[in-house]
Amino acid sequence: MSTIRINTIHILLTALMLGATAAFAQEVIDDINFGWRFAKGDQRAAIAPEFDDSGWEPINLPHDWAISGPFGALTDKGSQGKLPWKGEGWYRKRFVLPKAAAGKRVQLIFDGVMSAPTVYLNGKKVGSWIYGYNSFHIDATDAARFGGENVLTVHADTREHYSRWYPGAGIYRKVTVRLVDSVNIPVWGVFVTTPEISDEKASVKLAVEAANQSAKTRQVTIENSLIDPVGKKVGTVRKNITLLAGEMLTTSFDLLVKKPRRWDIHTPQLYTAVTRLLVDGKETYRKETPFGIRTFKWTADKGFFLNGRRVQIQGVNLHHDHGPLGAAFYPRAMERQIEIMQEMGVNSIRTSHNAPAPELLELCDRMGILVFNELFDKSGATAGVRCSTAEYVNKYAEREVCNFVRRDRNHPCVYTWSIANEHGDIMRNSDGQAPQHVTKLVSYFKKYDPTRPITMGVCVPDSADKAKHIMDALDTISWNYQEKFLYSLENYPNKGTCISESASAFGTRGAYKLRLPKTKTDYTKDGECNAYVLTAAGWSDIPEKEIERTRKYPFVSGEYIWTGFDYLGEPTPYAMHRNPHPKKWEGRSSYFGVVDLVGLPKDTFYLYRSNWRPEVDTVHLAPHWNWAGHEGENIPVMLYTNGDEAELFLNGKSMGRRSKGAEKTLSNLAFEKTARASSEEIKQDTNGNVESENYASKAVDGNLDTRWCASGVALPQNWQVDLGSQQTFKCVNIVWEKTADHYTFHLQVSSDAIQWNTVAVTTKNSGRESVLSFPETSARYVRIHITGVKNQNWASICEVRILPEPKQIIADNGQLTNPYYDVLKKYRLTWFDVPYAAGELKAVAYKNGKRIGETRVETAGEPAELRLTPDRKTIKADGMDLCYVTIEMTDEKGRVCPRAMDELTFVVEGPATLVGVGNGNQMGHDSFTDATHPLFYGKAVAILRSRNGEKGTVKLKVNTKGGVSAELGLVFEEE
Ligand code: GAL
Repeated sequence: MSTIRINTIHILLTALMLGATAAFAQEVIDDINFGWRFAKGDQRAAIAPEFDDSGWEPINLPHDWAISGPFGALTDKGSQGKLPWKGEGWYRKRFVLPKAAAGKRVQLIFDGVMSAPTVYLNGKKVGSWIYGYNSFHIDATDAARFGGENVLTVHADTREHYSRWYPGAGIYRKVTVRLVDSVNIPVWGVFVTTPEISDEKASVKLAVEAANQSAKTRQVTIENSLIDPVGKKVGTVRKNITLLAGEMLTTSFDLLVKKPRRWDIHTPQLYTAVTRLLVDGKETYRKETPFGIRTFKWTADKGFFLNGRRVQIQGVNLHHDHGPLGAAFYPRAMERQIEIMQEMGVNSIRTSHNAPAPELLELCDRMGILVFNELFDKSGATAGVRCSTAEYVNKYAEREVCNFVRRDRNHPCVYTWSIANEHGDIMRNSDGQAPQHVTKLVSYFKKYDPTRPITMGVCVPDSADKAKHIMDALDTISWNYQEKFLYSLENYPNKGTCISESASAFGTRGAYKLRLPKTKTDYTKDGECNAYVLTAAGWSDIPEKEIERTRKYPFVSGEYIWTGFDYLGEPTPYAMHRNPHPKKWEGRSSYFGVVDLVGLPKDTFYLYRSNWRPEVDTVHLAPHWNWAGHEGENIPVMLYTNGDEAELFLNGKSMGRRSKGAEKTLSNLAFEKTARASSEEIKQDTNGNVESENYASKAVDGNLDTRWCASGVALPQNWQVDLGSQQTFKCVNIVWEKTADHYTFHLQVSSDAIQWNTVAVTTKNSGRESVLSFPETSARYVRIHITGVKNQNWASICEVRILPEPKQIIADNGQLTNPYYDVLKKYRLTWFDVPYAAGELKAVAYKNGKRIGETRVETAGEPAELRLTPDRKTIKADGMDLCYVTIEMTDEKGRVCPRAMDELTFVVEGPATLVGVGNGNQMGHDSFTDATHPLFYGKAVAILRSRNGEKGTVKLKVNTKGGVSAELGLVFEEE
């Protein structure tokens, strides 16, 4: 049973800094997150305090009841991870409140419960919430028993929750129970802002809420002190106020900081505001609020500025799950994610698409990561309420915004609020009220924080049409995929923009496929996405395209890769309707991550590091060099480096020195030029998921598998392309969706896109292709004016080429010869002419002619040893700390065996618990919580959790059935 303790962190910090006496006004119930009981299903009887829960499962928080599986329990085709997250779960916890605490208020704070939690204390309902990702708090004083045992019961219910990914289930974030004086600061009731900042001084404003929950009028002194990043007090202000019984007042304070130290991504320096409430000279409440002093500007023409200098946003989207841990949130798991992302060069996280755990923001403050803090995805259904958008916005949204913003607004890492991701009804203005909905949502955010810009993740270009006014109320517009930001720039030239989702590209770590794709949507047929990462979702692009885009358009403040880590659910392209073989391959986790589900890097990790941290030398070779059976066959070799040249050697023999080059001159003048159409088809399912987007630009993307399609049968339809400047050409070549004889059209050209001239052409149709030849013509704009389509088909074009000479195109889509891949030449060094022979492949890289490093891959011999590598050797024995151990199969010389898939068995001895095992195989259906798990392409990861207060040495033993074994010793120490 839990006891009460004084929050020692408070004592140490503020007593040291303020030289104050150690009298503390609020206390937390120690160990409240340990020693719970859990049961699934309808357990209503458990509300009664006397209910006997001894038969329930003993658990500790954080807890995700679905992560143990089994897989396949839901028929969700993988989009929600195939794990049994739907249902009801009940939690119970007993704890004692001391008699001496009578008269205090009992506050319960839940960081996140999936979903729709109802909370009971001693049999009495004390509160409830809806949105599973948001934090909420409850004053449970009236139900509390002082001087005896209390039973806290929580009912979580995911049945009404809708999700496009794995949401997890249960009390998956921490719970805090606090005892506070009746004169206190309400939860999240301090707001710190820094309205004016210069090198000389910064003004610091505090708005402090003070509540009197007693029955008497109180004279209260509010004192605020500022502590600088090295622990020095730099100012104090006090005010006396009178609080009537039951009253809550907000009081403002102004302070000055001389020569402020900036919070920045490289120097994340934090100040602390210490707020105390004093009644009759006695402290009744104390709150510490870390904050930062920094300026930022999100401009429309030059991008994003932090502390006066342009900072390119090098961002990642991160979903909330932590792979084998499911939704259960451990601060160390998050810290490790950030460490891995920072190693790659990441400086910003988009919390796609929900309120994150509060510790994420604490870590980002401390580690120097900017946060694009997003609250909702799509619609009310994903926030747990099935109703119209109008009802959601008017009835439910504000209280979610209120908690979210009040909780997070003091974090210097947060630079923008995002009201939603791809809200379909809003983007399409389904109820004709979209501008009002956006205005209202924005006003809720501004009400609780008027200082930060407000944005939304948008994917329908048309929604930024100024005439529709949908985006008027947003400060900035963030775009998911392609060059949609161009539309917003045209319509809203004064609103800043970023690419909130880029590079929905696919890869399975270690799974190199020798047949390279012909197009970006040419997926393999075995449920593994080629580890060379050359395919992407139809609506997106491979990483190099996106990096190139951000360089081309510096007014765009940067990109957020979809995604940094693989996540549970959404195994596109092997899920739902996109899966070519729905029965055979149903993934359970995503292929999008730059690192896999357990944090092991895919090769594109090194591509990003080369470009995002050019000052660090990166030389990374792919693939592995174990290709027995392929002797003499050419194996594609790719090198990721910040250098500009490299020489490759196979068994000592040079395979050639290659340099990164400019993209080759394209014969197709229209390739990737800006295209427009009179109408465009966008299909979404009833939940707002985009099933297909057929924009005009799809007809100039070099990919015959994608198309522009009109949004209906109406005619005429126009498709046009802007060649950027006046160009001369003799041929236009169109690949239609149906056979060419379905379409009647005119080819038109123009110099200003206003006055169009029809070109007299000779047309040759062959299958789906029309080849149009004409005398040399000069124009900037080319238009296909479609006047007829047979059989009520919609106008639809797969590809258009504008060429100096007549040429057929349909057949020339060979291995990486598709112009789509030309951009690789600037970013990867490639060798397609290396005939396989076992041995050593070595690359030596150069930058500006100077050698910057070398790397090698060697053919590994027979599997002989297991290598266990912990992320840290000393772990805190606080019950929350984790140790991630990477397991690799090697040969006797320590070379990783890249094809090893052996089943592993884990045994833990000593004070730690095996909480998760995983390997990054998106098709793997082995439980994440069993003590067995296979290697995947040579590697796996095991996660150990410390036990609260149990110190000692822990042994992790790992064995294979074939008799290979290894042992690792770890020290679990006091906090
Ligand atoms: C986006 C969506 C993301 C994710 C992604 C996959 O449209 O916002 O949540 O589904 O597609 O490419």
